Amino acid sequence: MPARTKPAARQRAAPQNSQAIDFPTKVHPGSALSVTHFTLEDVSEILAQASRLETMPVLRRAQLLAKRRVALLFYESSTRTRTSFELAAKSLGADTVLVSALSSSIEKGESLKDTGITLRALGAECIILRHPNSGAPYLLAHTTGLPILNAGDGTHEHPSQALLDLRTILSRLFPAKQRNSVTARALHGLTITIAGDILHSRVARSNALLLPRLGARVIFCGPEALLPSTAAEIGHGVLIERNFEDALKQSDVVMMLRIQKERLAGLHLDLEDYIQRYQLDASRLSAYAPKALVLHPGPMIRGLEITSEVADGPNSAVAEQVHHGTAIRMALLFRALQTKPTQSKKKSRKR
Ligand code: MLT
Repeated sequence: MPARTKPAARQRAAPQNSQAIDFPTKVHPGSALSVTHFTLEDVSEILAQASRLETMPVLRRAQLLAKRRVALLFYESSTRTRTSFELAAKSLGADTVLVSALSSSIEKGESLKDTGITLRALGAECIILRHPNSGAPYLLAHTTGLPILNAGDGTHEHPSQALLDLRTILSRLFPAKQRNSVTARALHGLTITIAGDILHSRVARSNALLLPRLGARVIFCGPEALLPSTAAEIGHGVLIERNFEDALKQSDVVMMLRIQKERLAGLHLDLEDYIQRYQLDASRLSAYAPKALVLHPGPMIRGLEITSEVADGPNSAVAEQVHHGTAIRMALLFRALQTKPTQSKKKSRKR
């Protein structure tokens, strides 16, 4: 691991982020709305289930959710998340249907609530939702009573991405016996820098809400416009460092983020200056974090936040992230469709 030469710039007083937050009432307990709803036991179970499902004979796996109905409701475009959820559902034998904003009654102004109720009336047993508004999956969960899997809501969360990022980190940096179960110290000693457009990133948020609960130090790095100082208040174990080189020097893992142009809403960014200060290129990586694992949730904008040399280089685990996505999403779908709606979530929330 690279030497940690300098402490991060500052650590603000932050609320403890160690406990799972109680599940909202009336939400189906098989839902995955936020990483904060998972106990560490839940996370371990999802990781272990992902591994079991991944290694299971294909024909046996295809019986597990045979003929169960899964709807993918996508109000925003997606390549990785949508495809891997769909392939995950199909690998388990489920029937899938894709409803996207442009080819459905959504275009005619139908509300999310009515679309959800319609899908339920058509027999959907689980809905995977991507939506531009933060909190939309909660609304759908309350109005349908179905298990809802959050595939990214506005700038809020992307829980399956954080879980697949965790699986990638565990697979690359830890021995096999530590990959399917986590504790509050599982990532102790690890520093993970998340750099770029933190302000608009649901991926940054889900990771920052999950990884410190496993003992990791998370550094947010970026310019003020994309990283307000209040971001450190997201939780214990999250720091802000404006200088990319200083962050890299401390990092075992560097997660680069895309600038989300679709959410900038008038914010002006000098891209040349941004590239100068925050692009992960080969010389920066080899000078400051030669051994760091490089992650990116995609889509990557090569030449902006990351160069091709790094994206395709030996430190990069970007394609592995995509690969782990299918196993994690199989586990989430299995959990969603196997959990009984009446099952109490008042179980103990031990770490
Ligand atoms: C997301 O949906 O949040 C993506 O995975 C990240 C991005 O859009 O840049």
